[in-house]
Amino acid sequence: MSNFTISQRTCISLFFILSAASSIAEPNRVEFPKNIDSLIHYTTVNRGDITEHMLTSKEALNAIEQGQEMPNGTQVILADYRDNEIYRYFVMQKGANWGDDYPTYRQTADWQFQWYWPDGSINVNENTERCQSCHQSRDNANYMFTYSDLKAYIERRRED
Ligand code: HEC
Repeated sequence: MSNFTISQRTCISLFFILSAASSIAEPNRVEFPKNIDSLIHYTTVNRGDITEHMLTSKEALNAIEQGQEMPNGTQVILADYRDNEIYRYFVMQKGANWGDDYPTYRQTADWQFQWYWPDGSINVNENTERCQSCHQSRDNANYMFTYSDLKAYIERRRED
């Protein structure tokens, strides 16, 4: 290294810092949910010791009921509980033209995905492309795996 100039060395360090950063934490436009208590818990999925509460907003439910798109700003949340304690939140959120942030191959229309710890920090080891690549298969259901449960919830609510 002794023959390297300062600027070469800086460049090399920057390269390693940037390449490490691109493979880990991936902040995007998704926000940590602030209003969990006002959201609707529309279904629960149990996976062994894990209990997943699925939540979204009243506005999103009303839009679907009226045959409209879920509005921009909608969040759908998977609240992952272990031993009755919140462990993490998986959040998908929709915004106008948010799909444009990504190359076409990884887009999930205007939905973006994020993994939060309960203190609001994001999982620094997650690359949210993985979330998108799995949820892409649900392109006919708002990119959701529990869309039919959401519609069933709306039906039950209508009958009450
Ligand atoms: C290998 C496939 C796969 C990957 C990767 C994945 N998910 Fe999911 N996701 C699912 C399935 C399946 C469900 C339905 C719940 C269940 O079966 O546990 C789900 C449910 C959800 C839900 C509730 C709404 C819905 O689709 O039903 C959210 C929100 C969510 N995931 C966000 C994320 C986020 C954020 C990531 C990345 C950190 C992620 N998912 C990665 C398969 C995946």
